[in-house]
Order: sequence, then C-alpha cells, then structure tokens
Amino acid sequence: MTIHFIGAGPGAPDLLTLRGRDLIAACPVCLYAGSLVPEEILRHCPKGARVVNTAPMDLDAIIAEMQQAHDAGQDVARLHSGDLSVWSAMGEQMRRLRDIGIPVSVTPGVPSFAAAAAALGVELTLPGLAQSVVLTRTPGRASSMPDGETLANFATTGATLAIHLSIQNLDHVTAALTPAYGAECPVAIVFRASWPDQKIIRGTLADIAGRMDADITRTALILVGPALGGEGFDDSCLYAKDYDRRYRPQSAHSPWAGWSDTDV
Ligand SMILES: C[S@@+](CC[C@H](N)C(=O)[O-])C[C@H]1O[C@@H](n2cnc3c(N)ncnc32)[C@H](O)[C@@H]1O
Repeated sequence: MTIHFIGAGPGAPDLLTLRGRDLIAACPVCLYAGSLVPEEILRHCPKGARVVNTAPMDLDAIIAEMQQAHDAGQDVARLHSGDLSVWSAMGEQMRRLRDIGIPVSVTPGVPSFAAAAAALGVELTLPGLAQSVVLTRTPGRASSMPDGETLANFATTGATLAIHLSIQNLDHVTAALTPAYGAECPVAIVFRASWPDQKIIRGTLADIAGRMDADITRTALILVGPALGGEGFDDSCLYAKDYDRRYRPQSAHSPWAGWSDTDV
C-alpha cells in the first residue's frame, strides 16, 4: 500500500489540486497536520475513513499509524499545508518509510508564498527589479539555521524574500535587511493568505513594525523587496513587438521560422 503525501494548499479549501482531492477520496485513512490544514478539505475523505489529526502526535506515533494502515492493506492520504517541498516535515517521514519499505507518492500543493502573492496581486519577479525569490525563515525555538543562510547574506542579492515562520522576529528581520535594501524598501505582511480572515499590511522596512496588528502572531508571511512596490520595472522581452522567438518568428530568416509545436 502507499502513503500519499498531498499538499493541502494555503487555506482556502478550493486551492487543492484535483489529483489531491481524488487521492483523499480514494484513501480509507487520512492523517492531516491539523494546525494549518482546513477542516473542509476533510470532507473529501470517504465515508467511514479513519481521520487523524497529527498535530499532537510525535514522529514515532505518526509512523506507527502509517504502518498500521499498511499492514491492514489500506492506502493513506497524508496532508500537509501548502506545498510539501518546504517546511512540511515530509523528509523525515519519508526517510522512516523508506527504511521500513512502505511506498510513497507526492502530490504538490499551492504554497503559502504563492497565495500571499496572489492576495497582494503582485508578481514577485519583475524585470529589472528582481528575478529571484528566496523562500527562507529565521531561526526558531526548534530550528536553527545553517551558517550561511542569514537574512543579511540573502539581502546582498536584492532578490524578493518570502520569509516564513518569522512574524515574531519582525524587528530582527527589518534590522537585518535595512542595510542592504534601504529603509524605504517595500514590505508586505500577509496573515492567513486565502483564509476568510486574511489580513494584509503594507509598509516599508522603516515603518512596517509600527503598522503591525497585535493579533498577528503566527501564520503570516513577510515579503520584502523592490518588486513588492510594483513600480519602476521593465517590460519583459516575451511580449515585445519585435522580439524574435519560437512562437512568434519575426521574419523568414528567423532561426525559429518554420517551427511548429511538434518540433519542441
Ligand atoms: C510549517 S510552515 C508550512 C509552509 C507550507 N508547507 C507552504 O507551502 O507554505 C508554516 C509557515 O508558512 C507560512 N504560512 C502557511 N500558510 C500560510 C498562509 N495561509 N498565509 C500566510 N502564511 C502562511 C507562515 O509563515 C507559517 O509560519
């Protein structure tokens, strides 16, 4: 049997992939990370499914649940918030499952940084301003950071930063970034992107702390970088009138002339 890791999305229950929904509906066991996975998604579980909130469980207990389902010949839907490729604890579960010979599959989900960018209505990679997005965090009680992964180091790139798990370190974030980005660099805080109680706070590195809402103590992203301003960027070449490209050759002499989709 298989443990299907499924990204459950950032909060809104319809921000779940069709593949994820169908897998949940096909699995007689569902283990979900209850702190952030919306309950509405559990409605896709089949009638009579064993549905377990793993928020209060440790890794041994979670793997024991998976082993029990496997021994009973049952597939498991394993739900984590957002996408599984970042801060999902999927890696440590997979390592254990590999050791005991239980197969896995992975279905991606909508990550919270994408939901936050959608809530803001911004593109995080604007030509001439930023062409990279750094998904990062600051150290927490349970997680230290590798030596080189400091905000000050990332700041030297000028990229757009999507800082997770750090809303309680906002003062540290602004202090670490101001020397490289400047006090007027735009910042946006998105609390519970895509949930009904979503909140957005905009400001700059200089004033964002003063604009903060005291109720926002978790489940928020801090987005920083010139792209957040949404101004002063270049058009991309992609749609420029005279840009010669495979899908829009500009002359009979274009290296792309005569190409069709089937050539790709
Ligand atoms: C354990 S991580 C999970 C990240 C998740 N795997 C993802 O793809 O976004 C939890 C952190 O992600 C961010 N986060 C998760 N859901 C969010 C949401 N709906 N709105 C804003 N931030 C969110 C917050 O920074 C939160 O502290």
